[in-house]
Amino acid sequence: MMNFLDIHTTSAADLRSMMNSAHAMKTARKDRPKGTPDDDQPLSGRMVALIFEKPSTRTRVSFDVGVRQLGGQTMVLSGKEMQLGHGETIADTARVLSRYVDLIMIRTFEEQTLLEMAEYATVPVINGLTNRSHPCQIMADVMTYEEHRGPIAGKKVVWAGDGNNVCTSFIHAAGQFGFDFTFTGPETLEPEATAIRFAREKGVRITMDRDPAHAVQGADLVVTDTWVSMHDPESAKERRHNQLRGYQVNETLMAQAKPDALFMHCLPAHRNDEATSAVMDGPHSVVFDEAENRLHAQKAVMRWCLGL
Ligand code: CP
Ligand code: NVA
Repeated sequence: MMNFLDIHTTSAADLRSMMNSAHAMKTARKDRPKGTPDDDQPLSGRMVALIFEKPSTRTRVSFDVGVRQLGGQTMVLSGKEMQLGHGETIADTARVLSRYVDLIMIRTFEEQTLLEMAEYATVPVINGLTNRSHPCQIMADVMTYEEHRGPIAGKKVVWAGDGNNVCTSFIHAAGQFGFDFTFTGPETLEPEATAIRFAREKGVRITMDRDPAHAVQGADLVVTDTWVSMHDPESAKERRHNQLRGYQVNETLMAQAKPDALFMHCLPAHRNDEATSAVMDGPHSVVFDEAENRLHAQKAVMRWCLGL
């Protein structure tokens, strides 16, 4: 039984084997209606709880569809409607859920909630986003890069904007998959130091560059995300927009990257804030492939967690 809590706490070999499994499952389903089961039904007879303490479109639907394609069943639970949101401890919730279900996916606020769930559950726990990280997203993003351009190892990835949870998982992935990573954004919104240290210790280059036009020179992949995350206070919005306006990914910025550079955004996007519609819908963009690949990557993650 394995938990999938973060990219940096999962071995590089296991991440690579999940990536291979995701590609294989996607290929095996090519042109098949989405509601049909996979040939392989490893989750047959298994029940998966999907807990959301924050909103979600992609994570919710891709996990739900993925479990069903693998032959399992799901229940989608909103944190607010559970006793968890009304004072029951995380530890007790974990112990109880483990008596009913075979796997727990949770999207929550504090990382500590996820860690406690994993500590007290006797079934695997998957991180579906915390304030700190979003590992399932980055599994889909690495898969998407490699499906379009081949191995990501040795490539240059540039993140423009807020050094948030998705950015942190990208930096973990730089260390584990062996690519260089440049953050371009204001100093106050730089990504966390421990993630940077982790990746540097793995031998990749992690660079901070205040100048977006300079940062994207030679980029193989340009990535951004919302300027205000779900856990950020609404009051931060105006200041963030003022701080980040200069880091918008637009056609002028993309033109500084390599001609065949890809553009990614985990979505949901605020079009014409962090990225223009011309870029989102333009020739470099693979944003909807990323969204699709959540499905395939997470199926691989669930199989790995359950040893199936
Ligand atoms: N990218 C992502 O996790 O999207 P949702 O918030 O819609 O799940
Ligand atoms: N950084 C964003 C990602 C949403 C999928 C957030 O946490 O709101």
